[in-house]
Amino acid sequence: GRRDFLHAGAGVAAGVAAAGGVSAGPGATRRAVADAGTSRSAAPAFHGDHQQGILTPAQRSAAFVALDVTTASRAELGDLLRTITERARFLTTGGTPPDPGLTAPPRDSGVLGPTVVPDGLTVTLSVGASLFDGRYGLASAKPVKLRTMDEFPDDSLRREVCDGDLLLQVCADDRDAVTHAVREIARATRGGMGVRWRQDGFVSPPRPSGTPRNLMGFKDGTSNPDTGDAALMKQLVWAHGGSGEPAWVTGGSYHVVRVIRMLVEFWDRVNLHEQENMIGRRRDTGAPLTASAEHDDPHFENDPTGDVIQLDAHIRLANPRTKASADQRMLRRAYNYDGGVDANGTLDMGLVFVAFNQDLDRQFVAVQKRLAGEPLTDYIQPFGGGYYFALPGARDSSDWLGRSMLA
Ligand code: HEM
Repeated sequence: GRRDFLHAGAGVAAGVAAAGGVSAGPGATRRAVADAGTSRSAAPAFHGDHQQGILTPAQRSAAFVALDVTTASRAELGDLLRTITERARFLTTGGTPPDPGLTAPPRDSGVLGPTVVPDGLTVTLSVGASLFDGRYGLASAKPVKLRTMDEFPDDSLRREVCDGDLLLQVCADDRDAVTHAVREIARATRGGMGVRWRQDGFVSPPRPSGTPRNLMGFKDGTSNPDTGDAALMKQLVWAHGGSGEPAWVTGGSYHVVRVIRMLVEFWDRVNLHEQENMIGRRRDTGAPLTASAEHDDPHFENDPTGDVIQLDAHIRLANPRTKASADQRMLRRAYNYDGGVDANGTLDMGLVFVAFNQDLDRQFVAVQKRLAGEPLTDYIQPFGGGYYFALPGARDSSDWLGRSMLA
């Protein structure tokens, strides 16, 4: 029989149906919330060929939670993934958890009030290489490029905050919706998995306009492939089964997370000119040093010896804009983090670098190798994260994330 991770949660879903909450789609939720005088957004549709949280423009707040699965059998792993899917479906749709009365534990944390608002929530589930290690008979189903994260020359990885069987990327417009989702998924899956590491992040509003900034003060995400271009996404983001990959991967994507500390006290003592030379863009406008507006092309071909944009500037190494590098582009979806101070009283902040790519080696790894030794490496310290594979989407209400992987 199916392991009931969701004892309380199943009640929530059933109760919502009884209360008519499930039939209140995103539109209804938006209306209800608007009535309450706020402008909270509905979450993107949950079902489809791909999961949400990949092409979705980055919401303001995020949690990256890596988990190790503790279930005993492959069947129980299926139950676990189905439970996560059901929770994600409910949380991203919103609705009213049933009232269990005063003598039973509440069916929801209550953090979002009596009615769960979607708040632009996306829950994206990805799998790590260790899930395919043999415990669940999945060795032949492993996406071929998936492995524990490589240690690059400038890294100092702390393995206890790397990798993991699963990764949940939870993003929403407000922090409380992220916190609530993480907590409700933890409640529903108790005993089935444990947290290995977690890193939270935030995206700032554009200041003053254009792309939001990272904590080095530079706009981050300017030169990203156009997520509205379906053909380009098919070429750069979505994996395809066949030619070496297992059939089930179609519609998924290699999901790279690199938690990179920024040595901001050190960075803040560097003059602006030098900062801009390291990146290759102006700090105020985000424009390439060879141009005037944020989205202008840098035209490296007109600056072949690096007189204006150094040959080892970050953007030049990351995307030399040659014929060969066109296929190496990736979709970045980074978050800032601020973790307070470390034991030495040094500010602990940086970037949760996130990228989705069709082929880990052709794209992320090729670019990361080219960045080795760039001047920026003196100011950053990659220490955590991992390589994961974002599962294909759940097609409809009877489907669940990972079903085709386990079939
Ligand atoms: C672009 C910062 C790490 C790949 C940029 C830009 C900035 C930036 C300011 C220019 C604006 C933009 O187009 O987004 C940083 C910082 C990092 C970091 C501060 C570390 C803390 C990485 C890593 C990779 C990477 C680890 C991949 C291995 C790229 C790519 C671009 C880019 C592909 C776009 C280049 C282009 O098409 O012009 N980064 N980055 N970055 N970065 Fe990074």
